[in-house]
Amino acid sequence: MSNKKILVLPGDGIGNEVMSEVLNIINWMEKTKSVSFDISERLVGGTAYDKEGNSISDETMQFAIDSDAILFGAVGGSKWDNVERNKRPEAALLRLRKDLDLFANLRPAVVLDALVEASSLKLDLVKGLDILIVRELTSGVYFGQPRGISKINDTESKAIDTQLYTTSEIDRVSRVAFDLAKLRRNKVTSAEKSNVMETGLFWRNIVTELHKNEYSSVNLEHMLADNCAMQLVRNPKQFDVILTDNLFGDLLSDVAAMLTGSLGMLPSASLGPLSEQGTRAAMYEPVHGSAPDIAGQSKANPLAMIMSFAMMLKYSFNMQEDSQLVEKAVQNVLLKGLRTPDIKQGAEKIISTKEMGNAVIEELKILSGN
Ligand code: IPM
Ligand code: MG
Repeated sequence: MSNKKILVLPGDGIGNEVMSEVLNIINWMEKTKSVSFDISERLVGGTAYDKEGNSISDETMQFAIDSDAILFGAVGGSKWDNVERNKRPEAALLRLRKDLDLFANLRPAVVLDALVEASSLKLDLVKGLDILIVRELTSGVYFGQPRGISKINDTESKAIDTQLYTTSEIDRVSRVAFDLAKLRRNKVTSAEKSNVMETGLFWRNIVTELHKNEYSSVNLEHMLADNCAMQLVRNPKQFDVILTDNLFGDLLSDVAAMLTGSLGMLPSASLGPLSEQGTRAAMYEPVHGSAPDIAGQSKANPLAMIMSFAMMLKYSFNMQEDSQLVEKAVQNVLLKGLRTPDIKQGAEKIISTKEMGNAVIEELKILSGN
């Protein structure tokens, strides 16, 4: 089998620490299994801005285009607060999403039994929770034109962002949500603000139409996005797949994340359109940020990054078994009571980023008899 080309972009802050644990796992897999990966590593975010003058260089973008999949750590930090917007660390992320057309952002929020106490919600509300947010990622108010701040007169100025969606943009992300729901509990909740926004009503109509024509076997529910936020903390287990736009998806996925107790646990996948050859651009990143306050102290939780790698194995390389193996290893490590500080509850053992990474590899060895 030909090598799988992975572009590794650790980024800023804890991005480097968590990524190095994934690279160790990749090393282990290459030694013990008949797989090999072609790894290129490049700078991104503030670190790239400091060294290359932009948060992502054209050359790195070319690496991204040429790769089969991208592993992304995290970017950002107050150090770059005053950098002009199009060179800020976050701009790199937006450029990767836009230029690679990574329109479908999958954000699972799963409450593992071992961590059920870490949630701020009551145990029975979140025990066994398994929801998937499908967020549109390349359009909406994040990219709509016109945008900007301009002067009205000497004393007044104005700022504009544009929420814009086309039929096909809504159609394609809805298909992803419906298709994934079929593999799960067969329910899609589509969240928008059709009571206030034109794009909301448009969204709702397109989802309804597609459902009627091609996905009537899936249970579809429409929910206003504010109500959805409320329902997520009131009774999260009513949800299976939540389908929503770029901005609401940003908000709702943070809410959903916290149901699980820690952002340090949540992976994500951002997928492009399927080509005729059956391939698609894809980027995998933890939902957490660069956490500059704990960077370099080996306190970061590498599990979201490791689970993002598991998603890569599943969605980009069709390696379901290996993907499940990695997920199982993570669960077992947690069941043994090993914790990074962010997920500590009671008397469990606090370990460092490196120790957590090593513990996952030890578990992988046990599980696979190697
Ligand atoms: C996310 C983040 C990004 C977003 C930022 C860093 C640009 O919050 O991936 O959820 O708003 O999409
Ligand atoms: Mg966000």
